Amino acid sequence: MTNPSRATEKILIVDFGSQVTQLIARRVREAGVYCEIHPFNQVDAKSLETFAPRAIILSGGPSSVIEGQAPQAIPEIFDRKVPVLGICYGQQAMCQTLGGLVEPDEHREFGRADVNIESSCALFSDVWQVGGQEQVWMSHGDRVTKLPPGFSAVASSDGAPFAAIADDARNFYGLQFHPEVVHTPHGAALLRRFVRDVALCAGDWTMASFRTTEIAKVRAQVGSARVICGLSGGVDSAVAAKLVHEAIGNQLTCIFVDHGLLREGEAEEVVHTFRDRFNIPLIHVDASSLFLQKLDGVDDPEAKRKIIGGSFIDVFDAEATKLGGSDFLVQGTLYPDVIESVSFTGGPSVTIKSHHNVGGLPAHMKMDLVEPLRELFKDEVRDLGRELGLPEEIVGRHPFPGPGLAIRMPGTVSADKLSILRQADRIFIEEIRAAGLYDEIWQALAVLLPVRTVGVMGDARTYEYVCALRAVTSTDGMTADSYPFDHGFIANVATRIINQVQGINRVVYDVTSKPPGTIEWE
Ligand code: XMP
Repeated sequence: MTNPSRATEKILIVDFGSQVTQLIARRVREAGVYCEIHPFNQVDAKSLETFAPRAIILSGGPSSVIEGQAPQAIPEIFDRKVPVLGICYGQQAMCQTLGGLVEPDEHREFGRADVNIESSCALFSDVWQVGGQEQVWMSHGDRVTKLPPGFSAVASSDGAPFAAIADDARNFYGLQFHPEVVHTPHGAALLRRFVRDVALCAGDWTMASFRTTEIAKVRAQVGSARVICGLSGGVDSAVAAKLVHEAIGNQLTCIFVDHGLLREGEAEEVVHTFRDRFNIPLIHVDASSLFLQKLDGVDDPEAKRKIIGGSFIDVFDAEATKLGGSDFLVQGTLYPDVIESVSFTGGPSVTIKSHHNVGGLPAHMKMDLVEPLRELFKDEVRDLGRELGLPEEIVGRHPFPGPGLAIRMPGTVSADKLSILRQADRIFIEEIRAAGLYDEIWQALAVLLPVRTVGVMGDARTYEYVCALRAVTSTDGMTADSYPFDHGFIANVATRIINQVQGINRVVYDVTSKPPGTIEWE
């Protein structure tokens, strides 16, 4: 178990495999306290000693504690004399370890429930009053039927007499419901109360303090060595580059491989922001003809991705070699990529799409990685970017895939199609911004379909491409819902695109959620 952070007040979240464990971490961090998620099977006496948490939260999970092989909350968790909060499965695992009883429940409870607050406890103070009824989100099959010594029930629901339990003397608490989800309206306040008032953390983990510690860490890691960073135009690499530049100045060189698959004005914006505005040494390689040439005639989505990924690395490698090599490579890896989630399905997850990044560099480019964002969630990276003074257009920008517009045009890629798609995309985004919807939407994009259909404009017949529009809401890109635009809005966007973009005569809106669809079309 590694702990790269210098944060002194740390919360350990023991992951039993819940779908929403990451939300616990977000809520804790929103309360200004640093935390990490570790899989239950990597938590032992030694790792606990090393990590030295101020408090421990046990997550929910899909197992039943009654089953023989079920994951356990090891006794050492409770021997450390720090506050422990068990959530759902975590509550049951805690009760089982501490001498209570868990049984299958005839009344499985899923979804919204009301709990009655029956007694006070340190966890509820200033949040819930005795006698009140509060809305929560339940999702459980088993339930605690006998409390361990020292505990008492402090809230109950129709389905769970021990919906919340407390042992104030030891600062141990258990919740049968999920405080981390928004469907438990006061859940965030309960988690805040746990880390700030029960575990007595000061809550001083802010982006300003993160920036200072991280800059010191980067300096210590690279010394006087040369460092390179691949800029993509996206938020993560931009924030990583800016932070590293603050730490080591011109020891850093950024390489921006422009594959010609970016959106309108994007390449110019990257160059302007980094080179002109922040004076960060930047090599801008216009490799668009090379990429177009390699992609010529290729229509298979995976083949397109592989060609782009491979060519990207070749160009990057050539530029780095021209620089005389480098000892370190900056990468914008985020915390969700680092967390080893507990998987109960077994085996590695199947490759849905081969993602494109610079991780697969050739062996001769042996460089150590500098990953200053490894501890952050996406929204925290955005906050850090603002803290570092990056412009809102970069920091607040929707995610954009490495292979760019090539995977937004099923079929072959050509300069003409790219130009048509760029214009449609610009109009869609302009309208979304004008309607004040940009920040509500996780990602909005236009896709150019490889089919042409008949239309009529003026008195003439047209035979042009179809453009699909897609906009989704999401918290992490793993699941997504189609954004419910007003019909009038989407009709207006369609009219603008058809009138202004030559080559498109029909527009459709994609209402597929993820799953079963993916966000990108390829
Ligand atoms: P999908 O299409 O898999 O996309 O639902 C989920 C999120 O990932 C982005 N995406 C990529 N990002 N390299 C990236 O850096 C890629 O190859 C890539 N493919 C998809 C996508 O835009 C969405 O935000």
